[in-house]
Amino acid sequence: MKYKVQAAGIMRTITLVLSISLVGLLISACQSSVQLKNINLPSEKKPLISKKATEEDFDYPTKDPSVEEGKTIFTQNCSSCHGFGAEAGKHNFTLKYVNSVTPSHLFKAITSNPKHPSFKDKLTRMERWDAVMYLRFALFGLPKDVEDIKIKFGSNCAVCHGTRGFADGPIHYYLNPPPANFNQFDRLYEKTDEKLFEEISDGIAWTAMPPWAGRVDKDKHFEFDEKFRWELVKFVRQFGYSTEIDLLRKEELFKSKNVK
Ligand code: HEC
Ligand code: HEC
Repeated sequence: MKYKVQAAGIMRTITLVLSISLVGLLISACQSSVQLKNINLPSEKKPLISKKATEEDFDYPTKDPSVEEGKTIFTQNCSSCHGFGAEAGKHNFTLKYVNSVTPSHLFKAITSNPKHPSFKDKLTRMERWDAVMYLRFALFGLPKDVEDIKIKFGSNCAVCHGTRGFADGPIHYYLNPPPANFNQFDRLYEKTDEKLFEEISDGIAWTAMPPWAGRVDKDKHFEFDEKFRWELVKFVRQFGYSTEIDLLRKEELFKSKNVK
């Protein structure tokens, strides 16, 4: 009798322990699935747009603007009044101008600037962004040697910013504020090239972003001189539009060889 009571007691304890550990297991399983959900892996190149997008008539694009499309749109809608550099008799855009205004400013100029013909009803929002990013591209464009800069960006910047500029480099978890995501329109489109150059040169106070002016990469034997830092600005920018560079190259090739 005494044994039976004891055995029943032991069984109860075992059941209790078992159910507690089962509950524990369940909780930790739930937690890990919750954690998995929280980590937002950027598996593909898609823009991040905050919904607080602002003024009337203004909104960020829904995908990377296309320079290729933009070229056609610009030729059909803007070339009658605008040209580049020193082209005669036009309201010309210069590199200096493009470096000193934000991409958003260019978009607003053809959307909601009362002093300019409005293209709000003539071109879709995406088409206006295409035209604007082509205008920028025509003057500021890509770094001279994209492959070379990819390697240099890879060994100096990607540890924080990620190779695709998504701010997902290996140490991004530890940084507060986190690294800038170069694919984020509502961040990068609000900065001028001059501002980005300044941030790359001088770093950003109270963040992990270091100053690069005058630094030397001893492994790869190059210096972060002024010219190279401007190339970095171009490289950072290219995350915010698509070049279809092969198409553009082909076009140049066709032009120079006069083949159709
Ligand atoms: C009918 C002529 C005309 C057409 C077409 C035209 N523009 Fe303009 N644009 C102007 C004039 C004039 C100015 C003002 C120049 C000045 O202030 O010196 C201007 C200024 C601008 C500016 C500078 C605005 C600023 O304040 O910084 C931008 C950017 C611009 N245009 C973009 C475009 C784009 C892109 C297109 C095509 C979608 C376009 N424009 C089509 C005449 C035109
Ligand atoms: C140790 C981490 C780290 C490294 C390495 C680093 N950055 Fe940054 N970077 C940051 C952080 C963090 C920010 C965001 C600061 C903030 O929120 O203002 C930032 C911001 C920037 C910005 C400003 C963009 C914006 O929208 O504010 C640019 C441009 C930039 N980095 C370029 C570079 C380039 C180019 C390199 C390599 C030459 C580089 N960074 C290397 C951490 C890093």
